[in-house]
Amino acid sequence: MSQHHTPTELERLGSMPLPSADELAGRFPLTPNPAPASQSEYEQVMGELSFGSRFTDHMAHMLWSAAQGWHQREIIPFAPLALSPAAAVLHYGQSAFEGIKAYRHEDGSVWTFRPGYNAARLNHSAWRMAMPPMEAEDFVASIVDYVRADERWVPSEPGSSLYLRPFMFASEAFLGVHAAQELDYYVIGSPSGPYFKGGVAGVSIWVVKGFHRAGPGGTGTAKVGGNYAASLLPQQEAAERGFNQVCFLDSYEECYLEELGGMNVFVVMADGSVRTPELSGVILEGGTRSAICRLLRDGGVEVREEKIELSALVDGISNGTVREVFACGTAAVVTPITRLAGEGFDVELPVGESTLAIRTQLTDIQMGTAEDPYGWMYRIC
Ligand code: COI
Repeated sequence: MSQHHTPTELERLGSMPLPSADELAGRFPLTPNPAPASQSEYEQVMGELSFGSRFTDHMAHMLWSAAQGWHQREIIPFAPLALSPAAAVLHYGQSAFEGIKAYRHEDGSVWTFRPGYNAARLNHSAWRMAMPPMEAEDFVASIVDYVRADERWVPSEPGSSLYLRPFMFASEAFLGVHAAQELDYYVIGSPSGPYFKGGVAGVSIWVVKGFHRAGPGGTGTAKVGGNYAASLLPQQEAAERGFNQVCFLDSYEECYLEELGGMNVFVVMADGSVRTPELSGVILEGGTRSAICRLLRDGGVEVREEKIELSALVDGISNGTVREVFACGTAAVVTPITRLAGEGFDVELPVGESTLAIRTQLTDIQMGTAEDPYGWMYRIC
């Protein structure tokens, strides 16, 4: 039995119908790279997939100015950017980004997952950073034309994808603090394997005190570089202690879980019900988080979006009322958390079957080996 859930604004906007890829193709005309990667470079990259370290031959680009709006749509060779040292993004961080993937299905076709959701979220992030929105059709067309140009870079081995990174930033050369009058938007892509080397073997999390990712009224719900920059120092300290990721707590009472450095978190209770931190106006509304809530609810699992108290979670792991904890995100997919530690506690968890089941259910839809009753998949080519 499905539980009632009122769609969030991003879920509502993200499920609006989109034109097909064939209808959108050509909005971003291609200037081919005169020196694409050689066959041997290509084979070397595709033969040892990591995450986000090697890039394809092209990128999508679009400009915005106050006078012309969004214009100059193009696919151009991947290359370093020419940017004034006075570009506002370098000083005041006015920027936003997205994470989305292109998947190769068994029949060779290439698909992406809920691109309308990412378009809506980029517009939300842009709004928070005083940047203009773009049409969802432009966002999706930039992905279609870019991926079609670099289709050979979409890997086919299990667990791999072409990780796409759309991003926009203030390129206006001006040192006054104001909303820029010139912006650049790009999409680059990286053929990628798992985000965590350990993958489904599980990751360890250090729960940080004294540092917060975002605060009320801040930029926590936006996907902006500053949030990730704020996570780096505690992330570094966690790594020095031997942990893979940090988990942040709320900034008022420092006792409720918010999110990890770059992903959302879920808790599976012994009775099979699932909990995840509520959208409190501080955490990022992950597309993977949203999909997992939907899949679980439609599968009859009770999902509660609510405050999760750290001390109750640690007690629950120790006394067996909490069975599993996992992280999720576009990059991380669904990753079991097998150790949770912080000041005064250090508890271990198994790689649980609910975690693996939801991971399989989601990735089967993404890879085209299971039916997609939600219309989440969008065919690129
Ligand atoms: C993503 O999951 O796509 C992100 O942007 C998060 C980052 C940790 C890679």
